Amino acid sequence: MLKKFLVVALAIFMAIPTIVKADEGMWLPMFIKRLNEVDMQAAGLQLTAEELYSINQSSLKDAIAVFGGFCTAEVISAEGLLLTNHHCAYDAIQSHSSLENDYLTDGFWAMNRTDELANPDLYVDFLIRMEDVTDRVLKEVSDELSEADRKKAIQEAINSIKNEAGEENDYIVQVKSFYEGNEFYMFLYERFQDIRLVGAPPSSVGKYGGDTDNWMWPRHTGDFSMFRIYCAPDGTPATYTEENVPLTKELREKNNAFYHHLPISLEGVSNEDFTMVWGYPGSTDRYLTSWGVRQLLDIKAPTIVDIRDLKLNIMKKHMDANPKVRIQYASKHARTANYWKYFIGQSKGLKRLGVYEKKQDIEAEFEVFANTSEEHQSKYGEALGLIEEAYSETNETEKGATFLSEVGVRGTDVVLFTYRANHMITKLMGTEDAEAKLALLDELKSFAEAHFKNYNAALDEEQFARLFAKYQAEVTPAQHPSFFAYVDKKFKGDFQKYAAKMYAKSFFTDEDRFNAFITSPNAKKLAKYLAYIASNSVIQSYFGLGSLNAEATEKLATGNRLFVDGLRKMNPEKTYYPNANFSMRTTYGTVGDYIPADAVHYDYETTLDGLMEKFVPGDHEFDLPERLIDLHKAQDYGPYADENGDLIVNFIHNTDITGGNSGSPVINAKGHLIGTAFDGNWEAMSGDIAFESELQRTISCDIRYVLFIVDKYAGATHLIEEMDLVY
Ligand code: ARG
Repeated sequence: MLKKFLVVALAIFMAIPTIVKADEGMWLPMFIKRLNEVDMQAAGLQLTAEELYSINQSSLKDAIAVFGGFCTAEVISAEGLLLTNHHCAYDAIQSHSSLENDYLTDGFWAMNRTDELANPDLYVDFLIRMEDVTDRVLKEVSDELSEADRKKAIQEAINSIKNEAGEENDYIVQVKSFYEGNEFYMFLYERFQDIRLVGAPPSSVGKYGGDTDNWMWPRHTGDFSMFRIYCAPDGTPATYTEENVPLTKELREKNNAFYHHLPISLEGVSNEDFTMVWGYPGSTDRYLTSWGVRQLLDIKAPTIVDIRDLKLNIMKKHMDANPKVRIQYASKHARTANYWKYFIGQSKGLKRLGVYEKKQDIEAEFEVFANTSEEHQSKYGEALGLIEEAYSETNETEKGATFLSEVGVRGTDVVLFTYRANHMITKLMGTEDAEAKLALLDELKSFAEAHFKNYNAALDEEQFARLFAKYQAEVTPAQHPSFFAYVDKKFKGDFQKYAAKMYAKSFFTDEDRFNAFITSPNAKKLAKYLAYIASNSVIQSYFGLGSLNAEATEKLATGNRLFVDGLRKMNPEKTYYPNANFSMRTTYGTVGDYIPADAVHYDYETTLDGLMEKFVPGDHEFDLPERLIDLHKAQDYGPYADENGDLIVNFIHNTDITGGNSGSPVINAKGHLIGTAFDGNWEAMSGDIAFESELQRTISCDIRYVLFIVDKYAGATHLIEEMDLVY
């Protein structure tokens, strides 16, 4: 089995010549040998491709994990210790926080293994291997097929590949599309489900600078946290039980699997040093066309920003007034604010960097290429026309669709909760068996408990009333969810009145009423609740979106697939990397300062002195814990200071990352950990659509600052002791 992979890899290696350049590009680890090794080594890397990604021996990739399905984490000790970002752990930290034990504010440190906190919803996945399955997936596909038939044939092939592969160990199997449906790869993962919180700094360290500094350089944020992977005593994955033990190399090898933990370097970085980042970038749109950029700039981005402005104001008002609400909504607020600011920066960047015009230039070139021969003409001739048509059709519905998602589905908590709870209640009512009924009831109760734990009815009511009023005023009536008509008829179109009645009466909006209702649910009554009426209507509209835009969606899929295929044929000497899609990637480049604006120069690293300069006592973003101020006064940095005696906090490098990479390891030329990546910079916020070599930077937290906080600030020296520090 293994031999076969080697032969295939070798054949690919010998067949294709390559040119790639560092910094831009999120590369598939499986192809490093063929595409990147020479270039990486020229840039300084001292490891071989086989030491980075191997399916025959332990390699660097075995230290990299999917964290919870939304971030990246890496193994940093022989006993399953994981490093990721503070903002990736935010939900988990919040879930363990209360007014008495406010870990969000004060931080949390397990001083021994028994204090490490379980998180039932968290998991990490390790990539076992990936494979090119393009030929198998496209076997029954031809150019003559309609987009719908094509989709069907592809799905059937994917299902059979998955079934076959799934029989191996209990691996999780994914098959993903690359280059907009031109290539397909399979990924096998092993999932661990007992992931315990080990440590997190206070938010004044882990989220220092808050929304003001978010997406910005110069930065001074200790955006890190630590977890530990637990498994059954025999080393196999298991959900939480007291008997579980930390995952170790020995246990892993006993199960014929590989284990790697990253050695940690105290050397730090200098300008132009080689760095690489490994992880799971979620999504980029580098092949977006000019029509897509226009729609984003004119409709989608401003609509999202405008809606979120209102959402955030309402949240903040209630959070400021009530400390309990502040904890309950901490994560929701941070998540909403993160992409609110993202879309503001993205639009600015797209305009300033002329991305629309650059896309038009590429399309003009493509048009020439598509007309160079009859063969090209018949294959690529209609690609751009299809894309243009698709966007001109969806331009009509985009604003309504954005409202439907940002206000309808996600604007308040009641809509999705009602939808899911209703689903479970219906199942409960349809179940006769007494035991099954009890189990469903239990499930429903714990689902509701989790929901109401982070729910404030007054806040949700105000959001409902004001956000839906905005929806009503700004979206053309033809695109309103059906219950708007009901609000017109029974409440004179007044969402405030509708909300007042709904939140006062509905069992979906109050935990006690909810628990009372589900002990003797009644279908007739249920359908009359205003929360049910609103939720049901919104969800119906949402599901209807697909068929509303079915034709445009098909045109866009065909157009994009042909466009990307043609682009690659048009420039055969250039190696195009695929868009991010939450599969493992590596990106490499160098540490580097930059010029954000005329006459302005930004250095590549920040210090604790600089962090102190930003200190504003009592401020919700720039306050600092007493203890950190004292350590700074005493200049007590231990072995974590640099050669000048400064403590480096953050640094920047021109690697190519995006959301999902959060928590990713930053690794030096020797394969040692030097930081954790947590953000991008303001001047290149358009980077998910067009990479800007001169401007785009990854912002990372220096590992020495991480160790300083763990050791000097928290006194969690037992954690330092289990790591491999290299001096
Ligand atoms: N912008 C970062 C990212 O998306 C998240 C940073 C979280 N910090 C914050 N202040 N909200 O990866």
